[in-house]
Amino acid sequence: MALLLSFITPFRGSANRSALKSVGMQFIAVLVLNIAACAQYTAGPIQPAASSGINDPSLNPRVESILKQMTLEEKIGQLVQYSAGQPTGPGTGRTDYEDMIAHEQIGSLFNVVDPHQINAYQHIAMEKTRLHIPIVFGLDVIHGFKTEFPIPLGLASTWDPTIVEKASRVAAMEASADGIRWTFSPMVDIARDARWGRMAEGAGEDPFLGSAMAAAYVRGYQGTRLNAPDSIAACAKHFVGYGAAEGGRDYNTTEISEHTLQQFYLPPFHAAVDAGAASVMSAFNNLNGTPSSANPFTLKQVLRNEWSFRGVVVSDWNAVGELIPQGIAPDEATAARKAILAGVDLDMVSSFYHDQLEKLVTSGQVTQAQIDEAVRHVLRLKFALGLFEHPFVDEAAAPKALYHPESLELAQAAAERSFVLLKNASGTDGKALLPLANTNQNIAVIGPLGEDSSYPNGAPPGIGPRTSLTSALAERIGETHVTRFKGCGILDGTEDDIAAAVAGAQQADLVIMALGESPDMSGEAGSRAHLGLPGRQEELLEAVTGAGKPVVLILFSGRPLTVPWAFEHVPAVIAAWLPGIEGGSALVRTLFGDVNPTGKLVVSWARSVGQEPLYYNALNTGRPPGDVDLTRPPADIVARYVSRYIDEQNSPQFPFGYGASYTTYSYGPAQISTRSLSAAELNRKLHSNAPVMTAEADITNTGARAGKEIVELYIRLQGTSVAEPVRMLKGFQTIALGPRETRRVKFVLTPETFAIWNANNQFAAEPAKLSVWISPDSAHGSPAEAEIVP
Ligand code: NOJ
Repeated sequence: MALLLSFITPFRGSANRSALKSVGMQFIAVLVLNIAACAQYTAGPIQPAASSGINDPSLNPRVESILKQMTLEEKIGQLVQYSAGQPTGPGTGRTDYEDMIAHEQIGSLFNVVDPHQINAYQHIAMEKTRLHIPIVFGLDVIHGFKTEFPIPLGLASTWDPTIVEKASRVAAMEASADGIRWTFSPMVDIARDARWGRMAEGAGEDPFLGSAMAAAYVRGYQGTRLNAPDSIAACAKHFVGYGAAEGGRDYNTTEISEHTLQQFYLPPFHAAVDAGAASVMSAFNNLNGTPSSANPFTLKQVLRNEWSFRGVVVSDWNAVGELIPQGIAPDEATAARKAILAGVDLDMVSSFYHDQLEKLVTSGQVTQAQIDEAVRHVLRLKFALGLFEHPFVDEAAAPKALYHPESLELAQAAAERSFVLLKNASGTDGKALLPLANTNQNIAVIGPLGEDSSYPNGAPPGIGPRTSLTSALAERIGETHVTRFKGCGILDGTEDDIAAAVAGAQQADLVIMALGESPDMSGEAGSRAHLGLPGRQEELLEAVTGAGKPVVLILFSGRPLTVPWAFEHVPAVIAAWLPGIEGGSALVRTLFGDVNPTGKLVVSWARSVGQEPLYYNALNTGRPPGDVDLTRPPADIVARYVSRYIDEQNSPQFPFGYGASYTTYSYGPAQISTRSLSAAELNRKLHSNAPVMTAEADITNTGARAGKEIVELYIRLQGTSVAEPVRMLKGFQTIALGPRETRRVKFVLTPETFAIWNANNQFAAEPAKLSVWISPDSAHGSPAEAEIVP
């Protein structure tokens, strides 16, 4: 416990600390001692990264002194990474790791999770090689190591970077105790299309929120000191544009203008780099004709030259090998040459660097200096992690880092904050169905996910205590009050099982339906062309609802699901995502009102798959529907020739930023401190963190229950050199409000809030009409109006 507290304690007041520290090009967390006294997240300038860590200048002489002793072969070895413990096959590289390490042919290994094995490999590197360069061991520690937290999409739905930072700290503590000092996380790809399964692994569709989360992950993983034994190196992935895969099909091609890259896709990466991320992963996707893992514009010009990134660029899995099928390399040598010249330092598993680089140097196609530059980055990471001093892991201590009570509490709290209450309708008695009363009612839990105990996704399976929804419920209200019917599988089912579930519902006072996706239906290669409930679950839902008992639907998924029938007919719906190891107990506490839901959507929730990609921060068309009623088919010419579907509404089922609560809130009008800003002055003060406008509003809890409300600030600029989105998130904060209480929230806005990527792709303020909203989500509220004059 003492050990864990030493990790948790420094985070108290972390928002305050963050005020002094950069988290990205357009993002800074500021604790403003405002009336509501809570953490405020608004745009801020680039700040230098922390002095210790990957940018520490004292690393330079150490790196150089080793580098100059190395042979070309040894250097190339540092640029090779393999996955141990994976089945081998085409593109997965070699498996004779001991031998390769002894011959200095491996710089990094991943997917080794046994500390004894890690030490065994490390002993070879440290004792059997000429220069004793340690191996850096990596793993996809995505939302916890053994203590599984909600998937990143769920963690982002908390809108609380402090929770993300704490969760990542726990992950770092557990993984590092195991000998893993490098995680391939956070995934900071912007995801606008719910068909893309990897939406589950990121922070959603918004670059501002995504930047806040990206920086929080980095701070959590890397701690205050990257070379502390309990810190792990973060890896911002997948650089860049991977989330824009055409049709939402994983690994597919992307076409993104430089302007859109700058405005939407790059900021979370920039935030991660500014927070000190020690590594970046080059992506699979072809970006505007050039694969991301051979793209000098993104990897050299943006990442190295413009952002001064000094850490390692690792390719994604066999991404160097994939340059051949992607059509820019006829052979292995060309693929290796293009990747290293573009700026990929470390070749994940393709073995092309191992097989080709020496020949490429000998033939003069790659210079020694180019190899040296890549090796520098790898050595720098190893020195920054303190691996030369502490290469081994204490095998006996490793299990003691796992499942600390405080870690599990945090996992539960994170899950509770991640749930988004989508609907909570009132019955005939005028009372909302949720929260449930602690009475002697009999509850039937129906659906294939009622007994899944951990809802994991992507993380290595843990072995710790788990609570399924059903077992947590039984603990709460007593075994005799809970009945359980699977109803159907996730993808299959029988008439008989559905009938049994309906009969079970008829015997109960209330039904909780646990429906959704299995974890492997999202994440990598988890693209879906249909976004409804898989298999026969919709049928089950409709049949059980027909039994006439009150139904609470809990949706488990790695993405929003299109279930319009449910939103119309089921009184209460909660998006639970994949909530992690304490998901069951967190859900039960939420159902019974021990906690009041606060989560809000970080992705627009579509009505139907045909609306995808769907995102709130879109450009207006020349034919916005305006007042046209889009629930009706376009019968006349006015209703038809607008930007619409003839068979679906334009609006999402639930907008970005939406989340209900067991209480209700009202928002007073947004009040801004000035109606006129000067573009010239904003540009003079850009990157200065100078307050240039405040925006305030009174928020009232209009209900009888205490709650926490996430308050969102959006702006729109019109009349600029390039069209700007209809709304852009530029601030958020969470406030606690007692019953009937009113608080005034205040956002302090800096010049970065108003700067745009202009027609010359420069980040600057321009004259414009300015609208400012303080609102509960991206679709409501009325703006305060102002202007930016020249
Ligand atoms: C491929 C995935 O795209 C990437 O996110 C992951 O880090 C690597 N595999 C390593 O497992």
